[in-house]
Amino acid sequence: MIYARVAGTGSFLPGKPITNDDLVARGIETSDEWIAERTGIRMRHLAEPDVTASQLAYEASVRAIEAAGCQPSDIDLIIVATSTPDYIFPSTAALLQARLGITNGGAVFDLQAVCTGFAYALATAEKFIRSGSNKRALVVGAEVFSRILDWNDRGTCVLFGDGAGAVVLEASARPGILATALHADGSHSPILSVPGQINRGVVIGDPFLRMDGQAVFKFAVKVLGEVAREVVEQAGLTMGDVDWLIPHQANMRILQATGKRLGVPMEKVIATVAQHGNTSAASIPLALDLAVRDGRVQRGQKLLLEGVGGGFTWGAVLLEF
Ligand code: ACO
Repeated sequence: MIYARVAGTGSFLPGKPITNDDLVARGIETSDEWIAERTGIRMRHLAEPDVTASQLAYEASVRAIEAAGCQPSDIDLIIVATSTPDYIFPSTAALLQARLGITNGGAVFDLQAVCTGFAYALATAEKFIRSGSNKRALVVGAEVFSRILDWNDRGTCVLFGDGAGAVVLEASARPGILATALHADGSHSPILSVPGQINRGVVIGDPFLRMDGQAVFKFAVKVLGEVAREVVEQAGLTMGDVDWLIPHQANMRILQATGKRLGVPMEKVIATVAQHGNTSAASIPLALDLAVRDGRVQRGQKLLLEGVGGGFTWGAVLLEF
């Protein structure tokens, strides 16, 4: 039996943290109190204008590859989950591959499932590895959401941050990923979208993130509960067997409501939203790497990673670390 096992993790946040008060100082009509109370967010990192998703992905990947004890040339599959790619094409994954100095390598592609992107990418990489076609995948979530925020819309611009997280997933005889579940319902696309495009060199529509916050909240809590139960059941386990719940970091209140629904105490939920804000596809691997490096996550523990995002998409990966 071939399993897909996490061999190493890495992450990267650009620049210094920008606090809620820093946003007020930049002229946004908000307050630390409003943001912290409604979302739990205290700060976020924002990339300089010339820093791209592939650069953040590179920094996170170098750390993950080092932690896995392998070389870039050992990687035979790269999947980058992002909604803020460097270019229309080539893919951010191809640009990352070049930055890593890998030539004549295996498949590389970007995956677009917004905030569920990393769960989708990890589940996809697992299929490649379990099929025997690939041995070592680099799976990355990298975002520069600051590029698609309307800084005049205080209801959204205070929520997001930039960053990247990565894992090296390798073929192993020891259990790694135990169960995956991916879902989508495109009929909910209007509640969270960037409804613009470039057509003949001109931006058509709205190039900024638009959101119905309350609708997103309700939908997120419902599906995060459902999909967590689904993977636990699929693996023949119970929620009590899960050592750490590592959800997409949208909002502290969503994390709390999800934990409550699942009967998982907050001490078993990895929460980084206060420090990172919502980094979309980067949020799960950023949280995972932080908890690995600070010693909370240990080898042999069971981790439940889950996300929800635009599309709407949602998904979960249950793994033995
Ligand atoms: N600072 C101060 N006041 C604000 C701000 C702000 N940053 N933003 C909005 N307000 C004001 C509004 O103008 C409004 O004022 P009014 O009553 O005078 O009209 C008031 O606050 C309430 O606005 P609402 O939009 O109704 O605020 P709500 O209580 O719904 O909170 C929030 C908004 C925090 C976004 C909430 O809906 C939420 O948590 N939604 C979840 C969505 C989420 O986390 N999305 C992340 C992306 S999606 C994903 O990752 C899956």
